[in-house]
Amino acid sequence: MKNILVTGGAGYIGSHICLRLLEHGYCPVVLDNLTNGHRDSVPIEASFVRGDIRDRATLDHIFIDYKPIAVIHLAGLIEAGLSMRTPEDFYNVNVTGSQVLFASMRANECCSIVFSSTAAVYGNCSQQLIDEEQQIRPTNPYGRSKAIVETILQDYSEIYGFKALALRYFNAAGADPNARAGERHTPETHLIPLAFQAAAGITSGMQVFGTDYNTLDGTCIRDYIHVDDLAKAHIDALNFVTNQHQPNFDYINIGTESGASVLQVLELCQQITGKSFEINYQKRRDGDPERLVASAQKAKRLLNWTARFRNLEEIISHAWSFFESQSK
Ligand SMILES: NC(=O)c1ccc[n+]([C@@H]2O[C@H](COP(=O)([O-])OP(=O)(O)OC[C@H]3O[C@@H](n4cnc5c(N)ncnc54)[C@H](O)[C@@H]3O)[C@@H](O)[C@H]2O)c1
Repeated sequence: MKNILVTGGAGYIGSHICLRLLEHGYCPVVLDNLTNGHRDSVPIEASFVRGDIRDRATLDHIFIDYKPIAVIHLAGLIEAGLSMRTPEDFYNVNVTGSQVLFASMRANECCSIVFSSTAAVYGNCSQQLIDEEQQIRPTNPYGRSKAIVETILQDYSEIYGFKALALRYFNAAGADPNARAGERHTPETHLIPLAFQAAAGITSGMQVFGTDYNTLDGTCIRDYIHVDDLAKAHIDALNFVTNQHQPNFDYINIGTESGASVLQVLELCQQITGKSFEINYQKRRDGDPERLVASAQKAKRLLNWTARFRNLEEIISHAWSFFESQSK
């Protein structure tokens, strides 16, 4: 079985990627320091190393012991709002950590990588469907840290021969359709699990930031991509990079091409859970773009990938099944 190093594989998206890798005959080797991940999110068939991507010795051991053929690099700090308060942490983990990882990859002659980038690199963008031709203008240190790593990968591809693909995810949502994995961030900052916490009475209600955007109901619009579709995109991306004969760097949006407003999502959450909750309206937050919806044409063209789950109700239902399974 071919080993794949999955940094951050104990996290939300990483745990779903591990399930998909196993289904496709790969063996995930997870490196995670568990600051935000969970040991029991890693499937038992996968190998697990508890450690930090900034620790060169641990990385070298993994490359020597497991000889992975490629890397899927998800490990990092993810909360854009927090990055406005603690940018040093974000550059340290997301940028310095990536550089330590890439140095170890180079030294150990494993130069194929799929990198978790983000729609946050686009910042405020007037296009209805954002395509990859758009100039990137991230509005917070989180988005900028990802943009810097993309630039590093481009240089490493040209100069050191890396084969690299950056996937710019839009908003990951949902859970494994069989509820084997799901979203468990602490503290939770993502809209759908926060709505479930409100519906379950764990919190007293929901805060909505900004009601005066130029959108159908004044709240922000996002493109919600099912985490299982995201995981499948990584299998396609992995096959793409490992089949390249020449060094290569590219970036691809992963989204559904349709958007929903914050209020539309909250309404669906109340319908699906059968519980209503209070909504408190607040002023806009700094750094929140009005609308982020992907064009997914490049993913279709290069990877032959399209989203399978296009119905937001189904995406939220999967997330709710997982949430309920955790509270039993
Ligand atoms: N969730 C989204 O909607 C979304 C959208 C766009 C991009 N992304 C990117 O996808 C990736 C995964 O996101 P997620 O939602 O699964 O987040 P997550 O926090 O659940 O997973 C990240 C994992 O990385 C681990 N980690 C953090 N710092 C580490 C370090 N220094 N060394 C080793 N492990 C470390 C954490 O313990 C965690 O398990 C991130 O890089 C994120 O920026 C996520």
